[in-house]
Amino acid sequence: MSGVVLKPNQKIIIKPQSQFYSGPYETHVLSINGTRAIIQTPYDQGKLVLLSVGTTLEVTDTTGKLQFTSQVLDRNFQGSPSITISVPVSVPAVKRAKVITVTSGKGGVGKTSVVINLAISLSQQGLRTFVIDADLGTANVDVLLDLEPRYNLHHVVNGEKDILDIVTEAPGGIYLVPGGSGFQFLADLDASQLRYVVESYKKLEAYADMILIDTGAGLSKNVIDFVLASDQVIVVTNTEPHAITDGYAIIKVISEYKSRPQCSLVVNRAEDKAEGRQVGERMTSVTQRFLDMNVQFLGYILEDRTVTKAIKQKRPHILTFPNTPFARGINNIARQLSQSGLQENMGKKSFFDKLKELFISS
Ligand SMILES: Nc1ncnc2c1ncn2[C@@H]1O[C@H](COP(=O)(O)OP(=O)(O)O)[C@@H](O)[C@H]1O
Ligand SMILES: [Mg+2]
Repeated sequence: MSGVVLKPNQKIIIKPQSQFYSGPYETHVLSINGTRAIIQTPYDQGKLVLLSVGTTLEVTDTTGKLQFTSQVLDRNFQGSPSITISVPVSVPAVKRAKVITVTSGKGGVGKTSVVINLAISLSQQGLRTFVIDADLGTANVDVLLDLEPRYNLHHVVNGEKDILDIVTEAPGGIYLVPGGSGFQFLADLDASQLRYVVESYKKLEAYADMILIDTGAGLSKNVIDFVLASDQVIVVTNTEPHAITDGYAIIKVISEYKSRPQCSLVVNRAEDKAEGRQVGERMTSVTQRFLDMNVQFLGYILEDRTVTKAIKQKRPHILTFPNTPFARGINNIARQLSQSGLQENMGKKSFFDKLKELFISS
């Protein structure tokens, strides 16, 4: 018996990457021959689907647990039409990366500071952590880390570099995917370029346990796509009234999407523990009551003058000042995040597959 991942009679769903047929189409396996499966040619609105040899297919089973990329190897038009596709021998149980998008209603509330230090704290816990700088306006993670990456997403799209070539090792054992001005031009890419970008990002999943995405404030279309494709979104606010109302507004926008990720809240720059807790608890109870949203309060971070000091020194805060109130707040949030588990992601659709659907469908 072969060890391939499909069995005869198994129901599968195929999504061809074809200009004319995109599916998804439900069909079933007729027979298996080595690493080839012969499947029934599916119908599209009463007509047989004509796929050329070489077409790439995304194959899933009806539970969504099995998922692999395949190719049309051959077609048979005699008798009952069928298609021969390639089948992997076994899909390794890759632990998916957990992807967390960090955003806020108002700018300047501390997103980038939180992302960088949270990433380092997670890496200190042994999690391989990547940061994607996806702030359209002020991509500045590299500046704060005192890095001058030579390459960014432009070079990936141009075909000059592979995504793994632009990944930059950063202080604290984290990996940065530099934005540069890269994300500004995402809006101008055509569908095939977008697909290429997302496919490139998908490669990161095999290397990372956690991927944190630093975004700009306010929900532009790109940020929404990142948020919706993530496993979790963290909304950062400070304790000023308009930051709180803008934070609430962001959560309201997220609440309008049916398939949305777990939404969490971080309260930054609290005067003291009491204020941090009060703002967090008030926001989670208001969002529960008015938006019917279960927002998880991840924790608060105190106002800390050493944050500016660290920024001036261009060193990540928790590396230089590991025992400050800021660092304690960050470490506490990192613990909460890593405790909420990575295993639960097994088998679920990956961030990048969801992102591809969101980008390509718009
Ligand atoms: N807990 C804090 N205590 C003191 N200053 C802070 C704190 N968090 C952030 N800041 C300051 O706020 C400014 C904006 O932070 P940043 O992380 O760049 O925000 P964002 O990415 O949301 O625009 C920075 O200059 C930083 O020094
Ligand atoms: Mg920022």
